[in-house]
Amino acid sequence: MPAKIVTVFNQKGGCGKTMVSMQLAGSFALRGYRTMVVDMDKQGTSTIWAGQASAERPFPATVISLAPLREKLIGELAKHAELHDIILIDCPPAIESSIPWAALNISDLALIPVIPLMDNVWASREAKELARRAREENSELQTYCVPSMGRRGNVFKACTEILQEDSDIPLLATGLQQRNAYGESQMFGLSVHGVAGASAAVKEVEELATVVLGRLGIESKQKNRKGKGGEVKQREVA
Ligand SMILES: Nc1ncnc2c1ncn2[C@@H]1O[C@H](COP(=O)(O)OP(=O)(O)OP(=O)(O)O)[C@@H](O)[C@H]1O
Ligand SMILES: [Mg+2]
Repeated sequence: MPAKIVTVFNQKGGCGKTMVSMQLAGSFALRGYRTMVVDMDKQGTSTIWAGQASAERPFPATVISLAPLREKLIGELAKHAELHDIILIDCPPAIESSIPWAALNISDLALIPVIPLMDNVWASREAKELARRAREENSELQTYCVPSMGRRGNVFKACTEILQEDSDIPLLATGLQQRNAYGESQMFGLSVHGVAGASAAVKEVEELATVVLGRLGIESKQKNRKGKGGEVKQREVA
């Protein structure tokens, strides 16, 4: 069966698209799913991230850049879809570009990471609008907002409530809190599963991964701690 395709997109820069893509990819790969991240951002953040890993301990999922192909990624993805269970498309921060539109048209599920701040809530409206238009072409597309870089306080609470009001494109109850462990995982070229002392981050990534697999209709496998590179030993910050 061809891969399920998940697009991670938003108009807003720096809202956690690459973080959500890479952590979910790590989780899926470690659970034994053949997982690929397609980096569609010419900044190349996810490609550079995976490139930080050592040869002995690679990033658990395959990461490739198809950014130069822009909307022609559709044809190229067809080849990869036969060889993978899950493909995550990490989009650039520009919904007017042809990339998110092309990605949404071939996706099973779309995630919009939203930091609980008002500017992020405003920007998410444009992203949601694009998803709604894409759904007219691709009726199978499910779209959710994901809380990203969560923090405490009244702004967080107010923004969360606004996002919860939308029942058409719901806010998932589980997301990623703001944590140092996420930055550490980038330094090592791994997901948080490979970072020592990151159990709180691993727990929330696993919860999000389980929710996404459920929405995709994929039977949830337990994390086996083996990915493309075999056993992942936790790493300490130097
Ligand atoms: N949950 C988190 N906790 C701490 N830092 C985070 C978290 N999520 C993301 N970051 C950091 O915030 C910054 C922006 O995150 P990220 O690169 O994932 O956003 P993006 O939406 O992909 O950005 P761009 O629009 O540039 O592609 C990065 O420095 C990243 O390391
Ligand atoms: Mg990014």
